[in-house]
Amino acid sequence: MKHLALLAILLACSGAVAAQDALAGKRLYFDAARVRGTAASCVDCHFGLPGAFGIGSAANDPARVQRAIDTIAQMSLFRGRLTQTDYADIAAYLGRPDVPSPNLRVSTSGAALDRIDFGMRPAGSTATGQLRLANTGQLPLRFTSAARIVGEHAADYTITASNCTDVFAPGASCSIDVRFAPPPGASGSRRAALQIEHDWIGGLAAAALLGQAEAMGDPAAPPIGPPGGGAEGGSAGGSGGGAAQLGWLLVLLLAVALRGRTARRGSPTVMHSR
Ligand code: HEC
Repeated sequence: MKHLALLAILLACSGAVAAQDALAGKRLYFDAARVRGTAASCVDCHFGLPGAFGIGSAANDPARVQRAIDTIAQMSLFRGRLTQTDYADIAAYLGRPDVPSPNLRVSTSGAALDRIDFGMRPAGSTATGQLRLANTGQLPLRFTSAARIVGEHAADYTITASNCTDVFAPGASCSIDVRFAPPPGASGSRRAALQIEHDWIGGLAAAALLGQAEAMGDPAAPPIGPPGGGAEGGSAGGSGGGAAQLGWLLVLLLAVALRGRTARRGSPTVMHSR
């Protein structure tokens, strides 16, 4: 009897921690590559549960998970990387796919979920965008870093506001505001990424920041007028100047020719029309 009571207590305890195990198993199922350093995660081949390739057969059966890893060639990448506890946790998740968990949803102020495209902006101007996060799960997750901007043109982008900090409760949402300000002199594609770390699957919420800087007085614009007439400085030189001089000479000749005729009417308009 004493032994039976002990067994009952053990079963009760294992029942109490089962949800916890299934949660850990869910994390491994989706994120073993990052958490355990394997080349892939279960989800990459088996997809979301109920899953492909008969993976459901290992629900609550850690030994079957282990046997699959030990015998299936495609799964050899997990050998020596997962522990007995991991097998148990994954089997628990397979048996309880709806285990309560956090669920982080990421979207942006733009049309795409994973990028904010600021479009073409004159250098020296600014534009704003927003990364939006929501926890649609049943458990909290935690932000483990401040929002940050990384990448080649990180200096073009500024975080102007963020209320994504610390504990992210179920049902909560938060946002991070970003300003794009291509500096004077910049031109072409200006790329960076907005990131914030968290302790749930993937470990990182991010959006690509895409913008184009439109140079003021774009030097790439084709010069107006004949070749040799440099647009810089605004002065027409070379053959362009020659054409202008010829024009003025014609105006002058015309003016002289007309002068005699119009003198009587006292309207030397052509002479003063420059
Ligand atoms: C690279 C692809 C790949 C990955 C990653 C992968 N599997 Fe598999 N798995 C397979 C294939 C393929 C089969 C089916 C083999 C067959 O039916 O011959 C399979 C079958 C299984 C089965 C069924 C075995 C049985 O007893 O019927 C289980 C359980 C399983 N995988 C668990 C996992 C778990 C858990 C993970 C993550 C730790 C995982 N797999 C990751 C490819 C993969």
